[in-house]
Amino acid sequence: MNLAVIGTGYVGLVTGACLADVGNRVTCVDRDQAKLAMLHAGQIPIHEPGLADVVTRNLQAERLSFTDDLATAVRDADLVFIAVGTPPREDGSADLQHVLAASREIGDAIERDTVVVVKSTVPVGTCDKVLDTLRAALRARGASWQVSVASNPEFLKEGNAVDDFQRPDRIVIGTDDSQALRLLRALYAPYNRNRDRLIDMDVRSSEFTKYASNAMLATRISLMNELSQLAEKLGADIEAVRHGTGADPRIGPNFLYAGAGYGGSCFPKDVQALAHMATEHGVPADMLNSVQTVNERQKRVLFDKVSRHLGTRLAGSTVAIWGLAFKPNTDDVREAPSLALIRDLLAAGARVRAYDPVASGNARREIPDPALEIVSRANLACEGADVLVVVTEWREFKSPDFRWLAKTLQQPAIFDGRNLYEPDYVEECGLRYYGIGRAAGERVH
Ligand code: UDX
Repeated sequence: MNLAVIGTGYVGLVTGACLADVGNRVTCVDRDQAKLAMLHAGQIPIHEPGLADVVTRNLQAERLSFTDDLATAVRDADLVFIAVGTPPREDGSADLQHVLAASREIGDAIERDTVVVVKSTVPVGTCDKVLDTLRAALRARGASWQVSVASNPEFLKEGNAVDDFQRPDRIVIGTDDSQALRLLRALYAPYNRNRDRLIDMDVRSSEFTKYASNAMLATRISLMNELSQLAEKLGADIEAVRHGTGADPRIGPNFLYAGAGYGGSCFPKDVQALAHMATEHGVPADMLNSVQTVNERQKRVLFDKVSRHLGTRLAGSTVAIWGLAFKPNTDDVREAPSLALIRDLLAAGARVRAYDPVASGNARREIPDPALEIVSRANLACEGADVLVVVTEWREFKSPDFRWLAKTLQQPAIFDGRNLYEPDYVEECGLRYYGIGRAAGERVH
């Protein structure tokens, strides 16, 4: 098929490149000239494992191209995807200006009956607005092409996006147009394993499904984070509790990890937007609001532990931090717990020496303060530091030399924000161990 993808952000780029990879001809459209220049050269503006390979081989095969010419891209397209950003506005609602501007431009340009597919995460009811906008643009120029709008939310995880796209656990399509559904069924056939991955529904339910999924996942995390605080007080280990709880198939073992709080571009934004939708419609959003409150509190837990451990020595101390990205395998620091921790430490008069395999540049842009030193190797962060805080579970942090750390750190303690380590072993090596929701470290020595 001939496809146009509007927006070469994380979602648009992965979608466009992967759809080209199975034989479609895909034109990705963006206004950002600097980004286009990079993409033409096969360079990827984000760190996403495997994506550069998919982009490069499809550029070479001339199935994938990048342009700023939206009109030409959509004129020949069987399907036009909208994958532009929907950043949060100050009140928490999603800002639709890019989605609606793209819709207008598409309506101004098409020269045939067209199906527009909304991939951006948009508040329920947006696809109807997109349809109205398209129709208004067509009417304004006296054109009478048939347009329909389908919702097709993405469920990609950063760091695993290519694999998630190629082997989805579900493909959700919301449309009331049978021709659009036929086209999308055909498009997604290569990924529709056993022919049972595709779930079609009405447009609004599809839009809602995306928010409901993220709200459900964020809720599990916040519940575990809240329970972790109680576990510490009660002398229980949240890791054992997670294991025992997750063994119930009704609960399941995934996404039950207590930690430093969730971050990223989706959970914080989507839970907030959903709560906003609820309030707008006069529906209580107690659960959603609590999920957010618990998460904000959780982002301070590591700071509180460091602050209790160092006491009056906190001001003037140096804290080593491993991991700046909001999760491993990405350079994304949006809403990352590391940033909240660093800001709190700097405000308390501490210095920070941080290391991350790929997210240093992005973190530096967020916090230009010279009291944050960013170093190029994990061990360098610890030399001359008082304590070590592990915020992101990158693989290279999973088995450090604890004895070396015990000798190197001035106030030997490790704050394990992701419960990566065996507390007893770490303490045997000469370090105080503080985890999340684990009685060890909290007990009086
Ligand atoms: C999420 C959804 O998983 C994905 O389906 C959606 O399309 C976009 O949002 P992503 O933000 O890339 O994906 O990351 P994810 O792996 O879901 O992690 C989100 C945050 O939750 C991270 O900060 C992670 O550290 C945290 N998390 C995850 C926990 O604290 N505990 C867990 O058990 C799982």
